[in-house]
Amino acid sequence: MFKGLFQTRSKAKNNIVMDTNGLDMSNIPRHIAIIMDGNGRWAKAQGKVRTYGHQAGAETLKTIVRAADKLGVKVISAYAFSTENWKRPVTEVNFIMELLSRYLTNEIDEFNENNVQVRFIGSREGLPDIVKQKMDHAIEATKNNTGIILNLAINYGGQAEILHAVRSIAAEAAAGTLDVEQIDNKVVESHLYTAGLPAPDLLIRPGGDLRISNFLLWQIAYAEIWTTKVFWPEFTPDHLVEAILAYQGRERRFGGLVDKK
Ligand code: IPE
Ligand code: IPE
Ligand code: MG
Repeated sequence: MFKGLFQTRSKAKNNIVMDTNGLDMSNIPRHIAIIMDGNGRWAKAQGKVRTYGHQAGAETLKTIVRAADKLGVKVISAYAFSTENWKRPVTEVNFIMELLSRYLTNEIDEFNENNVQVRFIGSREGLPDIVKQKMDHAIEATKNNTGIILNLAINYGGQAEILHAVRSIAAEAAAGTLDVEQIDNKVVESHLYTAGLPAPDLLIRPGGDLRISNFLLWQIAYAEIWTTKVFWPEFTPDHLVEAILAYQGRERRFGGLVDKK
């Protein structure tokens, strides 16, 4: 059991302060998935435009990745833009694309300083060339980092991901390189964007809505879900600790029985 106030300083402005009182440091979720929701409503509540919320949300992600790393989390999957978010006004979509591109440029040094490895899940189809270039650059520039993995979901949809996997599995079967009888969970998982990553242990949704919104449909089969009404831009390391504390209070049974007597 780790008790007390946990504080780190990389740069003065980057102080991570969180109260880890009561946390069991031997039972930290390995992989946390976050549906970063509520940016627009948070901005509106401040009398600002929705895009201001996206800007603030990007700052929150930086803080939460550092906090998660300090706690020993190995992977953060963060939902930044869904396959359904293209339905939004073109000005908002363009702003988000520019924000992503800027984020991926400006944060490289910080990722490297903090040993963060960046990966992406989602379809590249329809993404602006500049965003795809920045994604490639971020992958390349951080590929040797051995700390926390920041798995950014951009143009991601769980159904699209499963469709993509089904198509490639079917193509292999049709080409005769894969026997239909051999298709099992492992084969499906190896065709998902998350191939090689453990399944999320904990799914966090800020913003007050109680739904999955097409995030990691296959992978969250046994994830523990934690939600809060707090909007993503106001989500702090203490909320992360609160979510992990709740997770540590759950009994994960995976369909079995804990008490097998
Ligand atoms: C999440 O915040 C970010 C994206 C979906 C890109 P929203 O933009 O959905 O904010 P709300 O839910 O409308 O408040
Ligand atoms: C989920 O939020 C997608 C992201 C956070 C990127 P949405 O705001 O798109 O979800 P819905 O529309 O409320 O289900
Ligand atoms: Mg939303």
